[in-house]
Amino acid sequence: MKFPIYIVLILVLLGIVSHGAEGRNRNFKPKEEEDLELERQLNILNKPPIMSFKKNGDLIDCVDIYKQPAFDHPLLKEHKLQLRPSSIPKGMKLRREKNSRLPIQREIEGCPYGTVPFKRVTKEDLIRAKTALALNHSRPVPESVPHATNVHFGLVTTPTNDPSKQIYGAAISISVYNLTDQISSQISQALLWIGSGIQGSYSGIEYGWTVNQGLYGDGLSRTYSLWTGDGLQNTGCFNAVCPGYVQVSQKRIMGEANHPVTVPGVDVYAMEFKIFRDPNTSNWWLFENLGDTADEPVGYWPKELFPAMADSAHVVQLGGKVSTPLNVPNPAGMGSGTYVPDDFTRTCYASNIQFVDSNFQFYEPKDERMTVVADVPGTYEAHYLGDAEKEHPKRGYTLLFGGPHYL
Ligand SMILES: *[C@@H]1O[C@H](CO)[C@@H](O)[C@H](O)[C@H]1NC(C)=O
Ligand SMILES: *[C@@H]1O[C@H](CO)[C@@H](O)[C@H](O)[C@H]1NC(C)=O
Ligand SMILES: *[C@@H]1O[C@H](CO)[C@@H](O)[C@H](O)[C@H]1NC(C)=O
Repeated sequence: MKFPIYIVLILVLLGIVSHGAEGRNRNFKPKEEEDLELERQLNILNKPPIMSFKKNGDLIDCVDIYKQPAFDHPLLKEHKLQLRPSSIPKGMKLRREKNSRLPIQREIEGCPYGTVPFKRVTKEDLIRAKTALALNHSRPVPESVPHATNVHFGLVTTPTNDPSKQIYGAAISISVYNLTDQISSQISQALLWIGSGIQGSYSGIEYGWTVNQGLYGDGLSRTYSLWTGDGLQNTGCFNAVCPGYVQVSQKRIMGEANHPVTVPGVDVYAMEFKIFRDPNTSNWWLFENLGDTADEPVGYWPKELFPAMADSAHVVQLGGKVSTPLNVPNPAGMGSGTYVPDDFTRTCYASNIQFVDSNFQFYEPKDERMTVVADVPGTYEAHYLGDAEKEHPKRGYTLLFGGPHYL
């Protein structure tokens, strides 16, 4: 069918007019503007993939390693991609060389050479990440916490107020659990945090596993990372949900579901990882034992992100953190969701705790002041065993934590 030219013209004009009106209306519709902003962020984050695959139900994109979202960060325009750290800390293989290895997570799929995997980000992911970041839960913990907040702890920390203390890295092996009976607003984390301090414009990096429906939209046990360069005032980011973190591993994926996880009393699976500062580039590297070989580089957080962590970090925290809205009576599960004294197969552990010193050497925290922060004892337990080697061979310095535990 053919319209006479004047009808076409009228239709076009009407289109322009109505479109123009809509355009003007946008100024008065913050919701729509927010949508546009989210679309813009998604376009930056989701690079055109070389290929995609599904892993445990997630859509994973394999992206050119040189074109990953990190390089869109304004501070990283000149950043030169590091494929490997210039060196690794001395003593990195300390315990694993002895005898049999700790159980660790198996790896399954990966991306082709030259590409790295990212979980495809949706608009809902962005909104959830923003909300999750605003929670008190995302912050490091003072040595003595006020009781009766909605966030609870079962962790150890080095002194939080000693900027003269220099720490160049830390390592742990932390067992991984499902927590199936959480409600959607509850959060559970098992983590290692390393930072410059806990107040003001601190810099910090956190890695571990979590059950966090508010962040992921499901109740699966997943890995997560979180960084900030200014105490979560203007910067801060989970996983790779905003530019910053640089991925180098072809297989480990930030935010992926943990598979397998520990079957209590039967099979223990653990995340065994290290975060340390490259003495040459000052980038902060994440290495993880992914099962088949020794530790491999997963990725790093560029030094540009951390004004307060250029030379070293000053504080390390590790263990469990949970939150439950104040109006919810049932406590969230921490660790394995229970605490069985001395039972490494039913209670979550953070073992083989090590730090890195100024000689770029791993050491055990024998002489460190490690303060246990357990603000609801009787419900959430945290027992720092110190050197557990004698009674529990191959565990080294260990924290056992979890709950709820009713005495
Ligand atoms: C450290 O960096 C310099 C300059 O970038 C480089 O020449 C040197 O080889 C690096 N050292 C190591 C141990 O990689
Ligand atoms: C969050 O932290 C702020 C300050 O640190 C505190 O005033 C507030 O009560 C906390 N909120 C909750 C729900 O605990
Ligand atoms: C953990 O949860 C996942 C997802 O629901 C499930 O596939 C898996 O079998 C569970 N594993 C254990 C040990 O409970």
